[in-house]
Parts: sequence; structure tokens; C-alpha cells
Amino acid sequence: MEAAIINFISFTFFLSFFFLVHTQWKKKAKSSGKLPPGPWKLPIIGNLLHLSGSLPAHRLLSDLAKRYGSSSGLMHLQIGEIPAVIVSSREMAKEFLRTHDLAFASRPELTATKVLFYNCWEVAFSPYGDLWRQMRKICVTELLNAKIVRSFSSIRNDEIHRLLAHIRSSLGRPLNMSQRIALFMSSLTCRSALGRVFTGREELVELLEEMSSLVGSFEFADVFPSWKLLHSVCGNKNRMLKIHRKVDPIIENIIKEHEKKLESGELGGDDEGEDIIGVLVKLERNGGHQLPITHEVIKGVFLDIFAAGTETSSTTIVWALSEMMKNPRVFSKAQAEVREAFRGKEKLEEEDMEELLYLKSVVKETLRCHPPVPLLIPRECREETVVCGYTIPVKARVLVNVFAIGRDPRYWEDPESFIPERFENSSIDFMGNNFEYLPFGSGRRICPGLAFGFTNSLSPLAHLLYHFDWMLPPGITVDTFDMTETAGISVGRKTDLVLIPATPIK
Ligand code: HEM
Repeated sequence: MEAAIINFISFTFFLSFFFLVHTQWKKKAKSSGKLPPGPWKLPIIGNLLHLSGSLPAHRLLSDLAKRYGSSSGLMHLQIGEIPAVIVSSREMAKEFLRTHDLAFASRPELTATKVLFYNCWEVAFSPYGDLWRQMRKICVTELLNAKIVRSFSSIRNDEIHRLLAHIRSSLGRPLNMSQRIALFMSSLTCRSALGRVFTGREELVELLEEMSSLVGSFEFADVFPSWKLLHSVCGNKNRMLKIHRKVDPIIENIIKEHEKKLESGELGGDDEGEDIIGVLVKLERNGGHQLPITHEVIKGVFLDIFAAGTETSSTTIVWALSEMMKNPRVFSKAQAEVREAFRGKEKLEEEDMEELLYLKSVVKETLRCHPPVPLLIPRECREETVVCGYTIPVKARVLVNVFAIGRDPRYWEDPESFIPERFENSSIDFMGNNFEYLPFGSGRRICPGLAFGFTNSLSPLAHLLYHFDWMLPPGITVDTFDMTETAGISVGRKTDLVLIPATPIK
């Protein structure tokens, strides 16, 4: 009898809780205008069921948008308490990233970005505002403009020669190219952006993969922000904190070293030729900025550059190599171009890379088929905005599916095939003006490292094709070669790329 009473009370309590939450959810979900169409939803969880499954998010959202989105390329999803809008057409991408760029120039503050990226006091995940503007300007003027990127060519050459030496020591044997290229790229980013390679770099590269998957994964607190009582029991926050505790001391060390150098006078008074952390440490000391550059901000910016610079560019090289292995015709044509352009030379000069029109098209086609950040970094709506007759509510999350747009048969002939020739004699570029092709995004939040990223991908590829022939490991053929993708904010290969290098017959 007692048990029955307890059951009854628990059941009544559960029902009241359910109705309370449901009523609140209905109130919150109300928008002042018409939302874009979307799939059917359930009370409380909204469309969460539609987002489960094994497909990576960009593919899943691409399929959902085809079935439930508007013909103009917009779809609304209710993700728990959060409205989200998925943009899947060239025309709508232009509306969100150009016409209404300012309204969508913010980023949502997510648990993962707050825990892992120093409370979002950095550039990539920072909400739109003075701090973002100030730090982005410093990064662009001190590190990422075209002149500075060109000046890194000797560091790039040096790192490429180390990579080539390692490959030469592994001739005829299977070599894990995913790992090698990730290490090469992290060295290159460190030496260009931070002055030198630091202790803990290899560990940080490994941690980055986990961070990327956490930033791109479902987090209870971000979807049900008002259910505060459950935040500590549901979700990945503890895992994030654990990673942060490993990452933080590595970065702290780098900053301390720069501070010591500043004290001993090794960081000169003139900023020219100095690395970005040196510049930031000096600005921290000197003050005088609209917003103070704190220790935490320096750490956040360091992580941005290390993460953005390393993962995206190495992913691009690995996908380009994978596609060329899968398409021997493209491989042979690109290799013939490189060998012809540099015939008889031991050293490939960066200025000569300009001539490699076909290889450039290979990289562009790779970025179309495998954009490393296929949903861009999520945007957040800053003010209610009407787009194409639909009302986008304040705080709605906006995901631009550049993967879906890059494979849309309305803009691309035979979109599933890897055909670099489509970029030959074409005016389409990746500067954010051609909305059918947005591997670096567009508008105020466009990737500031696009020139650095493109050059860092093109130059190593030219060397790999010039100096070696490449074979698939025994038992793997062009048809069985795996091209499955991972899930995460940046999308690489699910399995590592393993290839056998051989010296070319001269
Ligand atoms: C192939 C290489 C790269 C690709 C495909 C890529 C792609 C992207 C994309 C899609 C975004 C989001 C843009 C948006 O929301 O509209 C982004 C942002 C960003 N990228 Fe890159 N990126 C690459 C290389 C780099 C490099 C080398 C750096 C720096 C060293 C860098 C630094 C950043 C930063 C700081 C942001 C945030 C910008 C902001 O929110 O204002 N990226 N990148």
C-alpha cells in the first residue's frame, strides 16, 4: 500500500514536471513570424530524434534539408529549447552571409568552446563585439596578411625538407601519412606563428582531435539551457575539463617563456619579425588597448591559431592525396605538371608554385568535395531578421552547410565526382564572393587564415608529388580504398591515410 502511494506521488510529480516544461517550451518556441519549414517535432525534445544516427552532421542535415526544407534552401529545426536554421543553398548563403551579415555575425557560446577555448575570449568562437573585433584585427595585421604569409616561405621549405627526409627513410614501407602530415603542419604553424616548436606539441596535436569532436558533438546544457539541475549529470563537461587541464599547462609554459624573454630584453622593442605570442605578451604588458589583453585572451588566441592552422590545412592535404589515390588519372596529370615545372631542380621555389595551375585546381576541388569545416563555425542570430519571408528568431543558431552547397547539382555538374578541371578557366574562387563555393566561409567572420591555409596545403603537395611515387598498401585497391569521414566541427578521414612511398624512376 505504502509503495503504491509513493508510486502515485512520483507519477503525479513527473506529470506536473512534464507539463510545466512543455508549457515553457511552447512559450519559448513561439516566434513573432513564420519560421522556415522543417520536419515534425516532439514536445520538449523537438527534432532531436532526427539528429540521431551514424551519419556525420553535414550529411545528415543535407538529407533532412532535401526532405523537409524550403525550396529556397532553408530549414528550421527545434533542438531541445534552441531554434536552429540550416542554410543549404547558394542564394540563402548570400542572404545570411552578405545581405544580413551583421545580424548573423555572432557565435553561440557553447559549453565546449567556453571550457576549451578560455571562455571564448579569443577570435574563432567569440561572440560578435569589441573583444572579437580587436583580437581579429591584431591577428590579421600581425600574422595573417599576405605579405607576412609569404615571408614564412623559408620556414615552410625547412619543414617540408624534414618531412621529405622522414619519407625517404620509409621508402617501400607503409607510412601513416595522416600522422606525418599533422605533425608537419603543427611544426609549421608553431614556427610561423609562435617563433619555434614547443614542448608538448605532439600531445597537443592528439588532444586537438578530441577537442574538435567535442566542439561538434551534442551537449545537453547547450540544448536545454534552462534545465540547470541536470547539467552536472548529463553531458561531457567533465571530459572537457579533463582535456583543458592537460592543454592549459602546455600553453602556460609557452607564454611564460615569452614573458621571460621580454624581461631579459630578448623580445625587442620593434614588433617586426616577432611571433604573434611575443606581440600579444608585449601588448599585455604595455596596455593601452580598448579592452585589456589578458593572459586568458593570449591563451585563447594561441589555441585558435594552433587548432585552426594545424587541423584544417593537414586535413586538406590528406583529402587531396586520398582523392588523387582514388583517381589515378588526376594523380598522373598533377604529378606530370609538377615534374615538368620543376624539371631537374632539387629545390622547389615557392614563387614557382604560381605556375601549378592544375595542382591548384586539385586543392580547390578538394575543398569543394571535402570542406574541412563543412557547416562553418556556427553563427548566432543577433536580432530578429526576416529572410526570404521567414522570420529568424534572436539567438537562433545558424549552420551554413557548405558541404551540401558544394555538392548541389544545381550549381555543379556531376557534383559527386572529383574533377579538378572544373576550376580551370573558371572565375570561381574561395574569397567568399561565390556563394556556391565557401570552404573558408564569407562575410565578417570569413577565415582570416585563408591565404596561409591554401599555401600551406599547395606547397607540400607539390613536393610530395615531385619527389615520390605513391602506392596503396597491399590488399587495398582503388575500389576498396576507404573514404569515410569523421564527425566533428572539422571533418577528416575516419581511418588514417596509409601509403607506400617510392623513389620515382628517373
Ligand atoms: C585549408 C585551411 C583552412 C580552412 C578550410 C579554414 C576554414 C575556416 C572556416 C570555414 C571558418 C569559419 C568561417 C565562417 O564562420 O564564415 C574559419 C574561421 C577561422 N579560421 Fe580558418 N581555415 C583554414 C586555415 C586557417 C589558418 C591557417 C588559420 C590561422 C593560422 C585560420 C584561422 C581561423 C580563425 C582565427 C577563424 C575565426 C574567424 C572569426 O570567427 O572571426 N584558419 N576557417
